[in-house]
Amino acid sequence: MHFRIYIKNVTMVNEGRRIKGSLLIDDDRIDQIIEGDAGPDMIPVDETIDGTGCYLLPGVIDDHVHFRDPGLTAKGDFFSESKAAAAGGVTTVFDMPNCQPQTTTLEAFDRKWRLASQKSVVNFGLYFGATAGNSYELGRLNPRKVAAVKLFMGASTGNMLVSGEHVLRIIFEQSSLPIMTHCEDSQLIADNLKACCRQYGPDPDVVHHPEIRSAEACYQSTALAVKLARETGARLHVAHLSTARELELFTANDPRITAEACVGHLFFSADDYKKLGARIKVNPAIKSAADRDALRRACADGTIYTIGTDHAPHRLADKVGGCVKAASGMPSIQFSLVAMLSLVDEGVLTMERLVELMCHNPARLLQIENRGFLREGYMADLVLVRPGVPWTLTPNRIQSLCNWSPFEGTTFRWRVERTFCNGFPIYNRGHVTDEKFRGRPVCYNR
Ligand code: DOR
Ligand code: ZN
Repeated sequence: MHFRIYIKNVTMVNEGRRIKGSLLIDDDRIDQIIEGDAGPDMIPVDETIDGTGCYLLPGVIDDHVHFRDPGLTAKGDFFSESKAAAAGGVTTVFDMPNCQPQTTTLEAFDRKWRLASQKSVVNFGLYFGATAGNSYELGRLNPRKVAAVKLFMGASTGNMLVSGEHVLRIIFEQSSLPIMTHCEDSQLIADNLKACCRQYGPDPDVVHHPEIRSAEACYQSTALAVKLARETGARLHVAHLSTARELELFTANDPRITAEACVGHLFFSADDYKKLGARIKVNPAIKSAADRDALRRACADGTIYTIGTDHAPHRLADKVGGCVKAASGMPSIQFSLVAMLSLVDEGVLTMERLVELMCHNPARLLQIENRGFLREGYMADLVLVRPGVPWTLTPNRIQSLCNWSPFEGTTFRWRVERTFCNGFPIYNRGHVTDEKFRGRPVCYNR
């Protein structure tokens, strides 16, 4: 028995093109993409969706999430946060290793894999965390099972810092998988923190966060990562660039050294600390409006390769205090696509570029099999979005367990109408349709 869903009268955005027409889902696959008004080949369909006025995009692939499972599940877990993903049009997520226990052994990796399989309503892949002591494992990871290696070259939530050029070089040499780095120079940060505390006391207000986690700290660490990648030939993707200056280290046409920007750094600037305080405290820190604008331009011109969320839920109780006490990180996955679409409305980037950055390039980066594009025969991971329906974000809409969002009070012009994961309509206008549905671990073309 095949289940066939026919989505008609939509504008599809894919691989640099806009196509008016319709798309036919057959079970878990995209069966036909039809340009113009023609119907599907004579076969009856089970459901027809009239998407007049809507855009149909490949489901978003978020290359950077912290779903907190296992061990930190008071903040969120694979079930709650994957529902937030589905509600945001995200059909595949890649989860970071700074949970408890950390995903730095094969045993911890397999345990998290089982947990995600049991709890996730969207597709998933997992990063393996590098430590100073596990380079032997890094060289032997199963490339069909592990998405990539995550390397903290700067300390952040979870104490996974690896430092020292010699140790870092070994990791770059050993890993045959892509390496995603968190780049912030810890020594500079420690010095800045000491100076700031001398001036403002033991827990300086969060407005000082970008002085402590400074642009210089980002530049030094990112420059080191780029240098090591050049010297070792490793495939490097630097996570969450936050400054204009780091962008100078990347070019739009080096396929082995690329960079990610995260929605928070593209949406907010240091001017927002006054209003949002520790809610937008994140590592690396949100920096100046000029940095934000440079990152936006880099999304448009191809210097940035992917946009992720760095979805990192914390309870509001963890977000109390200043630069020292308040937890770093914020939830964002449920509203990342609509937030980026508002930047499309502002003329920051085109919808075609957005699809490149949030769907195609994450698939290319991680060599994901059969996902990330609207192509016949590919998995039917899709999101249907509607423009021109303004709505304001209030807490009752939030799926994340932590139940707050840095975007609260924001009025968005776009709405996620429906999300299809492996052909299944997992999200439909405000509701996750079936809490028992489960996504799949993704496969890699390696
Ligand atoms: O602000 C952050 N929060 N940066 C990170 O690198 C980790 C994340 C978290 O897990 O909370
Ligand atoms: Zn992160």
